Amino acid sequence: MKRLGPHLIAMLLAGCGGVQSSDGRDGVQSALIGSLFDIFFSTTAAVYLFVMAYLAIALWCGRAHRAGGGLQGKPAFHLEAGWRAGLAAFTSITALILFGLSLATWLTDRSLAKAAARPALEIELTGHQWWWDVHYDDPVASRMVHTANELHIPAGTTTRITLKSDDVIHSMWIPNLAGKQDLIPGRQADLVLHPLHTGVFRAQCAEFCGMQHAKMALTVRVDSPPDFRRWYEAQLQAPVPPAAGPALAGYAIFQTRQCASCHAVAGTPASATVAPDLSHLASRSTIAAGALAMTHANLVKWIADPQAPKPGNNMPKVPLSAPELAAVTAYLETLR
Ligand code: CUA
Repeated sequence: MKRLGPHLIAMLLAGCGGVQSSDGRDGVQSALIGSLFDIFFSTTAAVYLFVMAYLAIALWCGRAHRAGGGLQGKPAFHLEAGWRAGLAAFTSITALILFGLSLATWLTDRSLAKAAARPALEIELTGHQWWWDVHYDDPVASRMVHTANELHIPAGTTTRITLKSDDVIHSMWIPNLAGKQDLIPGRQADLVLHPLHTGVFRAQCAEFCGMQHAKMALTVRVDSPPDFRRWYEAQLQAPVPPAAGPALAGYAIFQTRQCASCHAVAGTPASATVAPDLSHLASRSTIAAGALAMTHANLVKWIADPQAPKPGNNMPKVPLSAPELAAVTAYLETLR
């Protein structure tokens, strides 16, 4: 128990901050829900303490009564008027508290609806077993951006995310920014975000969706508006195909082996959509929907055998010799 104590405290505190915190009030939506939580928690805690105090007084008085022979044989009519008044007062206070909590809920709901008006940015997010497909909408088709497993949004701006699912029910949860919203096949839901400041957050699929549900994360980067515009313009540029060296060999392997039948890379013949878009893969911070950090060693490990770090996922192990593996990795690392 002595050893468990510090771990328990650390675990409890870990829920109170960081990149994935249900108490991180980093967006208008999460701040509104957080304030409502505060109102409910403080009110119900006060009621609980009051009831417990009354119970303690009743037990104590009861003991005193029993010691003095109790109420037996003594007329208690003079107490009845007090009881009636007390009952009426407590009933009124209870009704008032419930009305107050309902009103606070209604007002929060109104504020959430108001905060969802006039989004400046529209994104479509599709859940797959087990990764996230991200589409930035634009009236001009050539200005639409397609990426995966990493979401960039501008701070101080309202973004509406349309949520879809390609297979089973998933749930999008960015606790620092907003509440949960399910992605249901054949249906469309939306999630509105309005981050208050820049930062990097972790979103997690919050609905059990199969073997790798836990490894279905999404990096959420809240950029300053100029940084967001820079990132967006960079995403619109197709990566430059390699001209020589192992990267060129890797490009050829990528286009002629299984890779291109599932993945897309802008500006190349690879345009399949069943697996994450890899156009700017090397600029992302994770591989395989948050399963691994984006490092050279992890990229090699992932391509060599995707079933080892994330068993059950749809990416097959493509037989590659050591030089071929090095070449494909070199090519993927040029996709910045
Ligand atoms: Cu997707 Cu859990």
